[in-house]
Amino acid sequence: MLSKNMVMALNSQVKHELYSSYLYLSMSAYSDSQNLKGFAHWLRLQADEEREHGLKIFDYLLANGAKAVLEPIEQPPVEFGSPKALFQKVLEHEQKVTALIHKLYEQAMAEKDYRTQIMLQWFVTEQMVEEENAQEILSKIEAVEEKMNAIMWIDKELKKRGE
Ligand SMILES: [Fe+2]
Ligand SMILES: [Fe+2]
Repeated sequence: MLSKNMVMALNSQVKHELYSSYLYLSMSAYSDSQNLKGFAHWLRLQADEEREHGLKIFDYLLANGAKAVLEPIEQPPVEFGSPKALFQKVLEHEQKVTALIHKLYEQAMAEKDYRTQIMLQWFVTEQMVEEENAQEILSKIEAVEEKMNAIMWIDKELKKRGE
């Protein structure tokens, strides 16, 4: 049986996962408005994935005869700036979620709640992948930005001909 504190913490993690879904859906809408359909597509699938994460914990609560209490989900931001700023926010958000998952795991260890530890192991690994994906996309954007800066520099140099 899950402890009262564990049920509370898991319910709150359901909310965090659903907020992640909300956040990525908002990022998807923003990207679409910027005509970045690929970004919008990726983020929309990411939003679906986060909903699945929430449901995984929701189902775990139900399977253990615990009460699933859906907490209010706050409104995500609407504007996200450049694609680079957006993916910086994705990475930061995933790092925050990783910290939340690790805290939950620590609680499960302290309570000797082996069952919840095993359930959370999937999330520990998933967070590693989530951070890796966000970092990879961010690095690609940065590499393109560097190339553009180099071209701008060369362009300036070429302008000096005949000066
Ligand atoms: Fe998640
Ligand atoms: Fe995530």
